[in-house]
Amino acid sequence: MNGERYLITGGTGYLGQALIRHARCLGVQIAATFHSQTPPALAEVAWHPLDLRDAAAVMALIREVQPTVIVHTAFRQYDPDLMAVTGEGAGHVAVAAAQIGARLIHMSSDVIFDGEKGEPYTEDDPPNPITDYGRAKARAEALVQAAYPAAAIVRTSLIYGFEPMDRHTAFALAVARGERPERLFRDEFRCPIFVDDLAVALIDLAQRDYRGVINLAGAEILSRYEWGCLLAQAYGLDPGLIRGAWSAESPTPRPRNCALDISRARQLGFRLRGAREVLQSPGRL
Ligand SMILES: NC(=O)c1ccc[n+]([C@@H]2O[C@H](COP(=O)([O-])OP(=O)(O)OC[C@H]3O[C@@H](n4cnc5c(N)ncnc54)[C@H](OP(=O)(O)O)[C@@H]3O)[C@@H](O)[C@H]2O)c1
Repeated sequence: MNGERYLITGGTGYLGQALIRHARCLGVQIAATFHSQTPPALAEVAWHPLDLRDAAAVMALIREVQPTVIVHTAFRQYDPDLMAVTGEGAGHVAVAAAQIGARLIHMSSDVIFDGEKGEPYTEDDPPNPITDYGRAKARAEALVQAAYPAAAIVRTSLIYGFEPMDRHTAFALAVARGERPERLFRDEFRCPIFVDDLAVALIDLAQRDYRGVINLAGAEILSRYEWGCLLAQAYGLDPGLIRGAWSAESPTPRPRNCALDISRARQLGFRLRGAREVLQSPGRL
C-alpha cells in the first residue's frame, strides 16, 4: 500500500476516526476533513476544513490532495441543509473523484429503504426512503452512481464501538441505567456493525475493483430492544429495566425492518461479525 494517499471525509466523525486509526497502521499517507469540530493533532494526518455544500471547495481540495483513495463518510443526519450536505455534497465528491480517477468508497445507509420488504434487502433492491435523512442518502447514491459508476456504494447499518463509545450504545446504556426515559422499539430491526470490522472491510474494499452497491453490515439482525438488552447484559446491567415500544407509537414515520442481506460480501470474503460474536470476544468492552 506504499504510495497510497487516503482522503477521509468526515475525519472528525465516528467512522472517520476509526478509519484514521486503521489507516495509520498501514503506512499510507492520510488526509482527513473536518467541518465544525477542532480535529485532534495526529502526526500522520493532514487535516483540511471542508464544507460539502461548496462544490468548488470540494473540487479544489481533491485536486490539491490528489488522493488515490477517498472514503466519503461526511454527512449530516439532522440539518436545515440536510439535502445540500448529505445529498448534493456526495455528488460533488463523486464528480471530483471521477475527475482525478481516485478510488471512491461512498458511505450509504440502510434507511434508504421503507423497511416494509419483510426480508433482508439485497444490493439490487431500489431505495424507497420515508424520512428526510433517507431521502438525502438516496439522492447521494443516485448522484454518486451517475457521476462515477466505478465508485463503490456501501450500505451499512448502526455503527457501534466501545473505545470510544458510539452514540447508539451510549443511548441504550443510559436507558438501561434508568438515566433516560425512552423505550426501545421491539419491531425496528437493524444489523449493527462493529466499527472496527467496518473500517477493516472498507480499507479492503478500497483495494478491490468492486463497482456499485455492496451491503457491509453486521451478521446478526436485532431489534433496537434486543440490541439494548444485549448491551446492558454485556455491561453488567439489568436488561429487565429496559422497556420496549412499538414503532407505530412513534409520532414520525420510521423504517421498521432495514435488515441488510450480506451474502454477497461474505462470498467476497469480508468478515462481518454479528453483535453477539463481537460482545463475546475477549477484552472487547
Ligand atoms: N452511525 C451510524 O450508525 C450509521 C448508520 C448507517 C450509515 N451511516 C453512514 O456512515 C457515515 C459516517 O457516519 P458517522 O456516524 O461516523 O458520522 P458522524 O460521526 O456524525 O460524523 C459526520 C462527519 O461529517 C462531517 N460534516 C458534517 N457536516 C459537514 C459539512 N457540511 N461539510 C463537510 N463535512 C461535514 C462532520 O464534521 P464535524 O464533526 O467536524 O462538523 C463529521 O466529521 C455517514 O455517511 C452515515 O450516513 C452511519
